[in-house]
Amino acid sequence: MCGIVAYIGKKQAYPIILKGLKRLEYRGYDSAGIALLDAENSINLYKRQGKVSNLEEFAADKDLFGHLGIGHTRWATHGAPNDVNAHPHMSMDGSIALIHNGIIENYDSLKKELIKQGYIFQSETDTEVLVHLTDHISKKENVWFGEALRLALSHVVGAYAIVAMSKDYPKRIVAARKSSPLVIGVGTEGDFFLASDATPIVEYTKKVVYLDDEEIAIIDLDEGLKLYNIADQEKTPFFQELEMELEALEKGGYEHFMIKEIHEQPRSIHDCFRGRLNAEEGWVSLGGVRDYEQKMIQANRLIIVACGTSWHAGLVGEYLIEDLARINVEVEYASEFRYRNPIINENDVVIAISQSGETADTMAALELAKSKGATILGICNVVGSSISRITDAGSYTHAGPEIGVASTKAFTAQVTVLTLMALSLAKKKGTISETKFRTLLAELEAIPEKVKTVLETSDHIEKIAAEYKDASNALYLGRGSSFPVALEGALKLKEISYIHAEGYPAAEMKHGPIALIDEEMPVFVIATQGTSYEKVVSNIQEVKARKGKIIAVVTEGDVSVKEMADHVIEIPECDEQLVPLLATIPFQLLSYHIAVMRGCNVDQPRNLAKSVTVE
Ligand code: AGP
Ligand code: GLU
Repeated sequence: MCGIVAYIGKKQAYPIILKGLKRLEYRGYDSAGIALLDAENSINLYKRQGKVSNLEEFAADKDLFGHLGIGHTRWATHGAPNDVNAHPHMSMDGSIALIHNGIIENYDSLKKELIKQGYIFQSETDTEVLVHLTDHISKKENVWFGEALRLALSHVVGAYAIVAMSKDYPKRIVAARKSSPLVIGVGTEGDFFLASDATPIVEYTKKVVYLDDEEIAIIDLDEGLKLYNIADQEKTPFFQELEMELEALEKGGYEHFMIKEIHEQPRSIHDCFRGRLNAEEGWVSLGGVRDYEQKMIQANRLIIVACGTSWHAGLVGEYLIEDLARINVEVEYASEFRYRNPIINENDVVIAISQSGETADTMAALELAKSKGATILGICNVVGSSISRITDAGSYTHAGPEIGVASTKAFTAQVTVLTLMALSLAKKKGTISETKFRTLLAELEAIPEKVKTVLETSDHIEKIAAEYKDASNALYLGRGSSFPVALEGALKLKEISYIHAEGYPAAEMKHGPIALIDEEMPVFVIATQGTSYEKVVSNIQEVKARKGKIIAVVTEGDVSVKEMADHVIEIPECDEQLVPLLATIPFQLLSYHIAVMRGCNVDQPRNLAKSVTVE
């Protein structure tokens, strides 16, 4: 994600864009930049690493005149956060400036072709190929930059919200959209505002047009707004009146960032495997760690180090990698690993999982592993974060900024990367049949739609939440790769509603926790179809025999658990290996609804921080 803001009209563009970028910083805050067309029709470009305030400070004594401008606050996906990789990106002759939200999957091949054509790249980003490709087509086909951009997009694979300007067309601005959001505000003075969402626009106008996928907007101050599809057929703009107020808009209309991020999971899981698997062609490719796969296969063991939710994701990874790729995996709390004088050597591969990429204990565990000669890899969400910079290689989860302190979409993105890793290692090692491999690839591709189905049960889960919002304790049970999901469910409830909760392997009940069961104790159980289904059903009966309350996550259509449980939450059928991606959603929603009913601060729970950068 990132924040895009642009303006064309009678007002000065800079103050509008700067304020708008500040409003969009929740969408990404690695770096910020702005391009302005000055009085001599030259483009002035200012961009800095860090927050928008860094850009503001840097630009304070610069020429900020201009009635046409584009601005961007970045959430890096390709190329570390720094001044050079910040947007806008410019054509070599300084005639075109462009900003982009999204991922250009085929940027590598486009970049190689453009370099052959003599283009010199300044940045490591995927975005820069767009501006050079547009420039190349404009010169080669002798067409204006807007038409060149339209032609360029037919060569592009991926997701984009783009705004581009040219010093040769001071009265025009061009925008295009596919998968990433872009909204156009129609000003009251014949001017136009463009942004990733309506928050930078709402104070100037409530009349907006939301671009649809593969739509291109050409705005000309004399001719107004025109829409075209990628095939250059004109479309009628659908104007809407904004109803939401500013604060609601930042959260996309949701009450909290956490619930917004829970609902983003179909997109974030899709973005996580975008360009990394193809079920039809039968391949999976984690480019960031490809060169280390042989080392992982030959390693003594893979040691996963992480904290909190990321540690739970690591446990899911252990089940998947050991089961599919038959490689020995150990999962360690980073805080324990770093101090217990572990036995590590050059035959070990240590994998750190961290949303923020800044967790002190995880960093320290990696540094210890590195000092002992181990190979160190990372699975992070924040590009250019400390952990991603010290590891030999890694894979980003591409979940976008996670603002809510309680991790949700980052967890399912981490599990997605670990699933891709398990599949890739199993395929390379030959421990998975072609049929099973392709089945799992197809099942993984279908997960985003199945997550949407689970999200539709939110109202049903809210009713269950109302029954248990005053509980003092709760148990979460699961078997196999659903055991880490039970742990994650318990953590979610603890950290945002402050109800004590514990996760256990379901079979462990008999070894003590069953003493806790009484009619006051809600027991949340993952009882989906799979190898241990019958055993989990027995565990449910043991709880019911002691008057415990059972809330079971079951496979759609399950009738037997439905008869014995107090409540069931159905999730779509999927391969057992992928259940964690679906079964975790009901527990995210449950903890969210209970926390809201208890009046807790859902996005900033007491005592917690989003990234624990101290020991
Ligand atoms: C998760 O809901 C918590 N906020 C916390 O456990 C978090 O997962 C942990 O602090 C690790 O953070 P990281 O993934 O950024 O390293
Ligand atoms: N993929 C582009 C980059 O890494 C855009 C990222 C974003 O959407 O902020 O610069």
